[in-house]
Amino acid sequence: MSVPTHIPVLLQETIEALAVQSGGRYIDCTLGAGGHAAAILDRSSPGGQLLGIDADPEVIEIAKARLETYSSSSLLVNENFVDLEAICIKYDFLPVHGILFDLGLSSLQLNSHGRGFSFQHDAPLDMRLSPSQEVTAADIINTSSEAELAHLIKTYGEEGYSHQIAHRIVQERPINTTLQLVRTIEQAVGGRRGRLHPATRTFQSLRIAVNHELEHLETALKQAINLLGFEGRLVVISYHSLEDRIVKQLMQQESKDCICPPGVPTCVCGHRACLRLINKRVITPSRAEVQLNPRSRSAKLRAAERIITQDEYYRSAEEHRFSARLNAEGWRRPALLKKLRVAFSML
Ligand SMILES: C[S@@+](CC[C@H](N)C(=O)[O-])C[C@H]1O[C@@H](n2cnc3c(N)ncnc32)[C@H](O)[C@@H]1O
Repeated sequence: MSVPTHIPVLLQETIEALAVQSGGRYIDCTLGAGGHAAAILDRSSPGGQLLGIDADPEVIEIAKARLETYSSSSLLVNENFVDLEAICIKYDFLPVHGILFDLGLSSLQLNSHGRGFSFQHDAPLDMRLSPSQEVTAADIINTSSEAELAHLIKTYGEEGYSHQIAHRIVQERPINTTLQLVRTIEQAVGGRRGRLHPATRTFQSLRIAVNHELEHLETALKQAINLLGFEGRLVVISYHSLEDRIVKQLMQQESKDCICPPGVPTCVCGHRACLRLINKRVITPSRAEVQLNPRSRSAKLRAAERIITQDEYYRSAEEHRFSARLNAEGWRRPALLKKLRVAFSML
């Protein structure tokens, strides 16, 4: 089977930031075409292991073909990273030395004509990462009120013409295809302004809303921090300011010992740093990389290392092992699992 291409972004920088070592265990939460995963598996051999996650079932099949030669050291699963902790417990993949998020979509999805992600191909307005999700972009476009649409396009697309676009959409409904939506946006705001196509921001906002991208990212990052073992690394590559803001704020907050508001004379929060920032300044692609792969131009890489005491580490590893055992016996009893885990954490 010939494997379609996606050029992995900031590849060398990612491997360095993850500090990949032989025998390590790594999670690629956004497997895509498996470019980063293949490099992690190469660098962690002999003995390395990789858990690859992707919410898109079509993408998983492509990654499986690409990573066939690594089948004894990799486990590739069609899941959403919002369930990261449960996935690790389910597949007994703990503790981990590094976790990678390379956010957004791969070129495979953007170039795929039938999914509605791209405003350059005519397709049904779908945009779901997985067919198991219920709400499509067309559902949002055709059932939201004008005010809701304007808010969504403004918040998730940072679009200055959100009100004009929302107004025109409501007049033109029903809108069921990408090109119908593109024409509606062009009528609302006129032709191309600057480098961006006028539909770019509205399409971004719909994709974020359909896939709950920002909420899922925040939830998964918090879980990822807890899953990392001693000196484990968290590496995130984001492609727009909304994602990057979430990553930056969480990493900065979790690398501080006190997060009391400014002006509070003595600390009342009791917060303890659990991360050390690896790169104080964000890492971006070189000019040469952008020339080779224009899709990389907006990429921003942030990395942090888990700070954890020996005691905390043993306790969390023990707790995870306990959950995994329980999972093998009683995965279908989540209430029991939760109760026992709470009890365990109080020991
Ligand atoms: C930029 S691509 C990753 C490319 C990959 N690093 C490579 O080298 O081929 C992002 C991937 O993350 C997946 N993805 C996005 N959100 C996800 C989520 N919440 N859960 C799981 N996978 C997700 C997408 O389906 C896509 O395949």
